[in-house]
Amino acid sequence: MPPVPPWNRQLASDNYAGLCPEALAALQEANLGHAPGYGDDRFTAEAADALRALFEADCDVYFAFNGTAANSLALAAMTQSYHSVLCHETAHVETDECGAPEFFSNGTKVLTMPGPDGKVTPEGIRHLVERRSDIHYPKPRVVSVTQATELGTVYGPDELKAIWARAKSHHLRIHMDGARFANAVASLGCSPKEITWQAGVDVLCFGGTKNGMAVGEAVVFFDRELAREFDYRCKQAGQLSSKMRFLAAPWVGMLEGGAWLRHARHANAMAELLHGLVAGIPGVELRYPRQANSIFLGLAPAVRDALHARGWHFYDFIGWGGARLMCSWDTTETDVRAFARDLAEVSGGAAAS
Ligand SMILES: Cc1ncc(COP(=O)(O)O)c(C=O)c1O
Repeated sequence: MPPVPPWNRQLASDNYAGLCPEALAALQEANLGHAPGYGDDRFTAEAADALRALFEADCDVYFAFNGTAANSLALAAMTQSYHSVLCHETAHVETDECGAPEFFSNGTKVLTMPGPDGKVTPEGIRHLVERRSDIHYPKPRVVSVTQATELGTVYGPDELKAIWARAKSHHLRIHMDGARFANAVASLGCSPKEITWQAGVDVLCFGGTKNGMAVGEAVVFFDRELAREFDYRCKQAGQLSSKMRFLAAPWVGMLEGGAWLRHARHANAMAELLHGLVAGIPGVELRYPRQANSIFLGLAPAVRDALHARGWHFYDFIGWGGARLMCSWDTTETDVRAFARDLAEVSGGAAAS
């Protein structure tokens, strides 16, 4: 009988992980006594202040329940219905939000470009802008970049600045889908400001969920003017939590002791370990540079099926059919080694030790 991973340990997604202790403790603290609703509580104010301190900027901050809402409402705030948003063809806003960015912006069109390793390029932006200039084409208004990308790669500050220069030359704003922003900061070892407002980002959707929270993505407006009436947009979209303190308090808990970065570093380190263990297993193709908390593998169908038969879950609809393995704040070396061992066994080789 082949070994089966314990039912509750997987490398399928950072969504599989539970709440990290810091987020849980913050929820428990927010649960003591009563507090005003709809964001008029001290936790929401403290979380927004903590984000302003983290980014060293006087940004405007809102909290949404999930990444789809955060991205869609942020993009809607940056556009008119006749505009377009330029992004990579693998961008979550294009492939995994069920048309929500178009829906919430009343029809703004998402236009996609190819690009190596899941990244938008200045040339791709130029092409989408310059290929048409007539009234019939949805007017380009925003470039959306994902940091870390859907393929587990990371934009460095210089890459972002090159995108910014191109965007500026076409009068475009920049939105960043930062569902895994923490993993990007951990990977680059830079300060959060270097890859946001100092690189031209106007609005960041900063992911808390994949970093160890239950819910609660922060929409951070570095250009405060874009946040005008954003509170109404959130309310209309069902994103104004009546008990907002439970979305906000975990941010305080995560930011004040640096847990957000510690957990991201850990997840990245586990992905690096996994990468090292599976490299060299016969028939296993490593796709894309490993820069954040995921790796992508090209696997023969029989190998994929054998891993599934051993109980491993993983997505293969992201990254053009590769198997995505994703580490989280609570991934252990044991998890990683168990997967690598199973992969080696079903591939007829041996994992590096
Ligand atoms: C790149 C990216 N953006 C945003 C999201 C947030 O999506 P959700 O609406 O599921 O929270 C995800 C989640 O998988 C993601 O991978």
